[in-house]
Amino acid sequence: MKVAGIPYRSVWREADRVAIIDQTRLPFEFHTLHLSDCDEIAHAIRSMQVRGAPLIGATAAYGIALAVSADASDANLQNAAKLLGGTRPTAVNLQWAIERMTRRMQTITWPARADAAWSEAENIADEDIAFNLAIGRHGLALLRAIADKKGKVNVLTHCNAGWLATVDVGTALAPIYLAHDAGIPIHVWVDETRPRNQGLLTAWELSQHGVPNTLIADNAGGHLMQHGKVDLVIVGADRVTAAGDVCNKIGTYLKALAAKDCAVPFYAAVPSPTIDWIIQDALREIPIEERNTAEVLTMRTMGAGNLVAQGKIAPDGMRAANPAFDVTPARLVTAIITDRGIAPASREGLQNLYRRKVA
Ligand code: MRU
Repeated sequence: MKVAGIPYRSVWREADRVAIIDQTRLPFEFHTLHLSDCDEIAHAIRSMQVRGAPLIGATAAYGIALAVSADASDANLQNAAKLLGGTRPTAVNLQWAIERMTRRMQTITWPARADAAWSEAENIADEDIAFNLAIGRHGLALLRAIADKKGKVNVLTHCNAGWLATVDVGTALAPIYLAHDAGIPIHVWVDETRPRNQGLLTAWELSQHGVPNTLIADNAGGHLMQHGKVDLVIVGADRVTAAGDVCNKIGTYLKALAAKDCAVPFYAAVPSPTIDWIIQDALREIPIEERNTAEVLTMRTMGAGNLVAQGKIAPDGMRAANPAFDVTPARLVTAIITDRGIAPASREGLQNLYRRKVA
């Protein structure tokens, strides 16, 4: 996608380094960073300089490439896999990418490992874009059908599942970008998504592309749905079970409950690597990241003189909790938009799309 007219991916190789957009500084400041080793990649993922399930997977793959370039031994590969795998627990894409890189390295002799690692990381990044374009095409049909009936589409989204959360294009935002580019009148309600305010990233990237959008407080969605102002909800996901349960950013579940009550269709847009075919019980088994409570007790603001600062919103000593994800049961999900097509959120629905994956 373009930023001020210049095309960017959200992670890319630059010579022997990995470049990222520092998402902790958006939407106020656009800065790129160049990471030189696996420790810096791990820090970028943990601190959410890069974030979003597909993007942390792709970035970890580049992290393995950096590690193997420095030392191609099995021991170093294992250390890198462990370090990167421990950065964030919920998005299954991270583990998926690390396992794929490790498997690939095990088929290659040491001297050839660095080249093979860079090219496998590039493959993962390129495939992510292809997945997202396919999701976009399938989702576009849904948006077009609504626009044909109503003349305009109002979508509500939560968190950021746009190009910043992937290598490019986005998952939940892919159909929206394609619809906008196809001339379909579309407007997006963007949940702020406290505490990390990923909605600001969504509003920023939609605006960069010229897609009309409105930022709303997290609690406004239900009210808008009750008043017929939302035609459908589309969110991304960090992990979807074979039964169609959707784990995504905290607050997604509440949006799904409101959507059900208001008969507003609720979709999750999901690339194939986000499906976890092993976990059986989403609520019990998906590890939900508990992040530092400082994220709840502070906020990043731009003050006088355009100075950006992290300010307290609570007095010292106030208790807080910060679960970062929740699970929306399949019964609240109208369908899952995947790169293979749109499936009912059920074991049978996903099985039909992915027959070879399921026994
Ligand atoms: O904590 P984050 O910002 O990494 O969480 C991101 C989300 O929950 C996204 O909605 C999800 O990863 C889908 S991204 C295409």
